Amino acid sequence: MCGIVGYTGQKQAYPILIDGLKKLEYRGYDSAGVALHSGDDVLVYKKQGKVAALETFAAAQPLTATTGIGHTRWATHGEPSDRNAHPHYSSSKHIALIHNGIIENYGQLKNELLNKGYTFNSDTDSEVLLNFIEDIKINNVCSLEEAVRIALKRVTGAYVILLIDKDLPDTIIAARKGSPLVIGVGKNEHFLGSDASPMLAYTKEVVYINDYELAIVRPDELILKNLGNERITPFVQKLDMELAAIEKGNFDHFMLKEIHEQPQTIQDSLRGRLNAEQGTITLSGLEKIQDKLREANRIVIVACGTSWHAGLIGEYLIEELCRLNVEVEYASEYRYRNPIVSPKDVILAISQSGETADTLVALENAKKQGATIFGIVNVVGSSIARLADAGAYTHAGPEIGVASTKAFTAQLAVLQLIALKLAEIRGTISNELFQTLLRELDDVPAKVEWVLKNQVENIKAIARGYKDAANFLYLGRGYNFPIALEGALKLKEITYIHAEGYPAAEMKHGPIALVDESLPVVFVATKDVYHEKIVSNIQEINARKGKVVAVVSEGDDAINDMAEAVMVVPACHEIVAPLVAVIPLQLLAYYIGVERGLDVDKPRNLAKSVTVE
Ligand code: F6R
Repeated sequence: MCGIVGYTGQKQAYPILIDGLKKLEYRGYDSAGVALHSGDDVLVYKKQGKVAALETFAAAQPLTATTGIGHTRWATHGEPSDRNAHPHYSSSKHIALIHNGIIENYGQLKNELLNKGYTFNSDTDSEVLLNFIEDIKINNVCSLEEAVRIALKRVTGAYVILLIDKDLPDTIIAARKGSPLVIGVGKNEHFLGSDASPMLAYTKEVVYINDYELAIVRPDELILKNLGNERITPFVQKLDMELAAIEKGNFDHFMLKEIHEQPQTIQDSLRGRLNAEQGTITLSGLEKIQDKLREANRIVIVACGTSWHAGLIGEYLIEELCRLNVEVEYASEYRYRNPIVSPKDVILAISQSGETADTLVALENAKKQGATIFGIVNVVGSSIARLADAGAYTHAGPEIGVASTKAFTAQLAVLQLIALKLAEIRGTISNELFQTLLRELDDVPAKVEWVLKNQVENIKAIARGYKDAANFLYLGRGYNFPIALEGALKLKEITYIHAEGYPAAEMKHGPIALVDESLPVVFVATKDVYHEKIVSNIQEINARKGKVVAVVSEGDDAINDMAEAVMVVPACHEIVAPLVAVIPLQLLAYYIGVERGLDVDKPRNLAKSVTVE
């Protein structure tokens, strides 16, 4: 949560910072602000609301500076407001700081400062950290760099901080623990960001900063140190990303663009790994931990949110195809529950961002107890990717829309590959089924394309018809149950309509009490082994006058006649069906959100990368 940017070089900093903040706005949009090193002064401009509000406010202010930092906030300590917006000034107004993360012991530090007579202009933990740093700088008569180092040894929690100091022209001090920080290396200039998107237009050379590292950044030098003041050689990497990947193109929203990218992104996840013609799967990451997998007692899948839904499908796949015990855990519970972890456990970590704090800490704990970590991550070089012993990137490209779409289907594609490869390694799948599923998987991008070509107008009309509903129920069985959960989550996030996902057969144990003529019930009812059963569940809803909307396989006339509306997908093998069945549900949530006039790319209260617990 929270996006941070920085620039020091020869160009005007403000336009670069604003442009960078817009690219990082998916990380939070409660407020935005910049601090500019202008002449002998540090100027701070900040405003509650989105970056556009900051721009309007700053338009009338002096903006000339070649060094500056910027922040877009997802509120943790203190409500969204101008005063809680970053950057914060230190007491003397000599230093400005932006912070992404949470300082857990800020209460204790604040009391120490209050006892010394400090006062605060915000409710944030970040302002406490800044004054704590300044207090050390004054008392120890030391440099800002030294004060930051001393302060961070006392701090518990997670942070990326950027600071500029009136007395240090052209200099940004940065440090990280637990939140991401990338530094872009240009010619006589450096860029800083929570991810690489703000610097992509200027450079492709980047350095990913590690935990407990501190950077002193000037136009012509990047000094990297650990908290023990030892120099570290920056490892410069080349970014494999194009600017077009982070722009909306001709689409109204990133979410719509990302939904439409899925034929390509699924293909990208499969490329070089699946060869349907030769009947092979190559997954070098998995092969690296083959022996561990052969001996594994069980697989534990750890994830949050949409990634957790992908994990549920992974569980069904691996249990069915590999006959191996799988447990799926919410990372936020797993990390605190004192789970039983053994060196024979293999943990599959699923994360789009690779930075989700709950997932990261859950993995760190499991790793300490000897488990092997396999990462299914989208963001290359992210913390989870780096922590994992082995992994398979999902290759969905940057996902900017806050609600996950293409990253989810890419996760499913990779899970399919993993389950199939593991089944092959373990000898639990017949060659015939293996070859059939390879061909089915290979056909998925074309089937997704078919849905996007043939169903959009139909789904738009369905969205218009149901946009005013107060509640929705989403039901599915087997592989389609997690898809029902995911459909309900998308609807909640994007439209603010209450929705619940349930196993269709479980409905009669409670939720059926909700059904009346005002309740739309979305069935994920593609043709599979449960088809007859789900037809019975549809009849149970019809008998209580609920409004049935169904995702059905092409040519399924039985459900067509029973539902108020249907969204059609091409017939597929039930094991790959979730990859196709989710597409209409993403579109339904999107178009209901648009009908309701909402900002679908930036739903209220959400942030893309949840780096707080
Ligand atoms: C929902 C959504 C979230 C994320 C969750 C985990 O649309 O995007 O539920 O799936 O916050 O994030 P990652 O996958 O980045 O670990």
